[in-house]
Amino acid sequence: MPNQSYPWSMYRGLWSILPPAPTGDYLRGKVVVITGANSGVGLEATKQLAGASPEQLILAVRAIDQGEKILKDLQKTYPAVKGRVVPLDLTDLGSIKAFAKTMEEFGRVDLLINNAGINPNFGEGPYKSTKDGYERVFQTNVLAPLLTTILLVPLLRKSDDPRILFSGSDTHAQAPSDRVQRAIDNGQSVVAAYNDEETYYNPTRYYESKFLLQMITRSLINSLPDMSIINVNPGLAMTNLGRDFRFGLSFKTAYEIGWFVVNARSASKAARNLTSAAAWKGGSQDYWSECVPTPSENLYMYSGKGVKATSVFYQEMLEEIEKISPGCLGAAKLS
Ligand SMILES: NC(=O)c1ccc[n+]([C@@H]2O[C@H](COP(=O)([O-])OP(=O)(O)OC[C@H]3O[C@@H](n4cnc5c(N)ncnc54)[C@H](OP(=O)(O)O)[C@@H]3O)[C@@H](O)[C@H]2O)c1
Repeated sequence: MPNQSYPWSMYRGLWSILPPAPTGDYLRGKVVVITGANSGVGLEATKQLAGASPEQLILAVRAIDQGEKILKDLQKTYPAVKGRVVPLDLTDLGSIKAFAKTMEEFGRVDLLINNAGINPNFGEGPYKSTKDGYERVFQTNVLAPLLTTILLVPLLRKSDDPRILFSGSDTHAQAPSDRVQRAIDNGQSVVAAYNDEETYYNPTRYYESKFLLQMITRSLINSLPDMSIINVNPGLAMTNLGRDFRFGLSFKTAYEIGWFVVNARSASKAARNLTSAAAWKGGSQDYWSECVPTPSENLYMYSGKGVKATSVFYQEMLEEIEKISPGCLGAAKLS
């Protein structure tokens, strides 16, 4: 059964006072890549990162004109910041491979922020497939950030302090685990279970995608012990993430919209979670919330079943991306 109760951290996030964004030039000399830099949390994080004097700030977006305008505006405030807008569409695996190839021109990557993501709605909604044949939310929020990361590992290894961030979500604690568990109990493919149109359930798909991203983060921390890897919860924030939401008129939806407007933090505050993690010197953390390392509230993931599911899912995902980009695992030299 779906676990629909809100995680405690969501309430904590409503009341806590976040520390200010980190200051100083903690990114001096660094090549920084951020996906989804043109909107919401990603846009505000990009502004904060620009103030930390990176050597190169790469805006990985699909809205190229918007990205160019953002970069130009940033350079008015920070004239020393060099940057580039590089096309990246996570619903197109060919675009991810082309993006990784383009990044070779920069010689290395010091900080990769996998921030871009979508939310298909917390209510009913149709199954949508990408042209690559995966369920759209699964590809955008789970498969694509893993593939982007693995393809960039050789460039990250050229850094003397490689760092990878993922924009996760506290809603991962609300995700039902029955889909992954059923697949494992029945000896079936977990990847296939999350891409199955017949059993697709839209209301929990966003939670599930962030839950799977938690599994990926935990696994990558073991596979890449030479890198600092953090799954960051920006917290409930006013952004364009609800662009796909379709609301019917009811007292319940009016209440929920009102609750969100009253409680959501600004995108700029939410972005401090990403920039505080970018400036953190304490190594990998599987979950980061309210600008500090935080234990995940998803209890399943600590259980024996959850640990096994994490391992099975991750192995399947590695096989999947090796099929997508043959040779990428050998190049990444995972432990
Ligand atoms: N807002 C919240 O309450 C909240 C809470 C927890 C976690 N998060 C996470 O924070 C991250 C940023 O979301 P946000 O709230 O800032 O939402 P947002 O304003 O909608 O920004 C999402 C970003 O992702 C990009 N994106 C979406 N699909 C893409 C694709 N196929 N290829 C490339 N880029 C794509 C969007 O680009 P386009 O403009 O081209 O669509 C946009 O830049 C997401 O991972 C989200 O899950 C948000």
